[in-house]
Amino acid sequence: MIKRVKGFKDILHEEAKLREKLLIKAKNFFELNGFKELITPILEKTELFLRSIGEVTDIVQKEMFTFQDKNGESLTLRPEGTASIVRAYIENNLYAYGNIHKFYYYGPMFRRERPQKGRLRQFYQIGIECFGSESPLLDAHVIFILYHLLNELKVKDISIEINSVGCEKCRPCYEENLINYLKKYSKELCSDCNVRIEKNPLRVLDCKNVKCKEIVKQSPNIINFLCNECKEHFDMVKNFLAMFEIPFIENRFMVRGLDYYTRTVFEAISYSLGGQNAIGAGGRYDSLVYNIGGKNVPGIGFAVGLERILLVTEEAIKLDFPEVYLIIIGESTYKKGLEIYKKLVNKNIKVEFDYEMKGLKNQLKKADKINARYAIIIGEEELKEEKLILRDLKLSTQEKISEKELLKKLRG
Ligand code: HAM
Repeated sequence: MIKRVKGFKDILHEEAKLREKLLIKAKNFFELNGFKELITPILEKTELFLRSIGEVTDIVQKEMFTFQDKNGESLTLRPEGTASIVRAYIENNLYAYGNIHKFYYYGPMFRRERPQKGRLRQFYQIGIECFGSESPLLDAHVIFILYHLLNELKVKDISIEINSVGCEKCRPCYEENLINYLKKYSKELCSDCNVRIEKNPLRVLDCKNVKCKEIVKQSPNIINFLCNECKEHFDMVKNFLAMFEIPFIENRFMVRGLDYYTRTVFEAISYSLGGQNAIGAGGRYDSLVYNIGGKNVPGIGFAVGLERILLVTEEAIKLDFPEVYLIIIGESTYKKGLEIYKKLVNKNIKVEFDYEMKGLKNQLKKADKINARYAIIIGEEELKEEKLILRDLKLSTQEKISEKELLKKLRG
């Protein structure tokens, strides 16, 4: 038996239905808010992720599915959507259409993480990315959309956490202060954090190690190091969030695991999730378009993880049983039976029938097994009388009626 790859999963029909339902809701919600769909390939040049997510991040260093193509080129299954959307935005010269561009996307992402509840190696993100405005009103609006999307998808107990990671002007000074502080505790910090001090000090702030968490509590606060522009921007984001009536918590330790962020970062936390409690996350990336080779255009967006939503959504699916099971008995009735089948399908009635046609009892059992609401029975006698038997499988009653009456009964 060849089994599926670790951390990858098959999506069975009930879950597939629920996913489809959530996705349609999300798409409608985005379209309502003026977003347009953008579909990008799942395979990109590795370089794209090195330049966007950052070389010294867990994603790039440990988690990418990267391979060498036959022509020697290094390719990677996308670990997230933002980098690809930015590439597509630049490559298709989408700047040309107006000033502000708002896209949404959906699809599988791949990260070679240790699988656990809510953490897969192939998972699906639904996200948005907006280009062309630095306004703090856009930040607040994007967070508003995240909050309302989760409401729309019936995800309860959501808390929005926000922070500012400053810009290229003010962050270096903060990093210097943070490094000086952390270096005093290098013996007590975990080995990963000791590497981070040198290569990506901000990441020490969200280390999950208990000892590191304790040390970081007294570390310098990034908010005190923001330049005037970043400080004002962050204050305005908070003001607008209040106007949108979005409850939020400031969390100065939230720095996110991707290097492209500037200024506002945020996460939507679901308390019902347990360990992997970030259901969605995002932030502003004002230098990313430029760094990937485009014009100097600011951007901001978020992505939610569909599998994590499935763990907590209150959206139940109504089981979708067939309305009719068509029972055809005797060779002479095949033609009439299939004619009825086509009429039912044309009326959008969900109908199934048996390919073996093995006798009434056998077929009734099958109708029962798949929870059909009605059975329609056509035998030689009914054919002669130009009638059909409509059996209500729930009420265990039946009647002999004409074809016309049948269609009227089922579809009024
Ligand atoms: P991220 O925080 O890496 O951000 O991922 C966003 C969401 O994807 C997470 O909150 C989580 O729900 C889901 N997710 C991530 N990894 C896994 C996994 N291994 N298994 C299941 N679900 C997972 C980003 O990817 C950014 N691109 C978000 C963004 C968009 N920032 C700006 N625009």
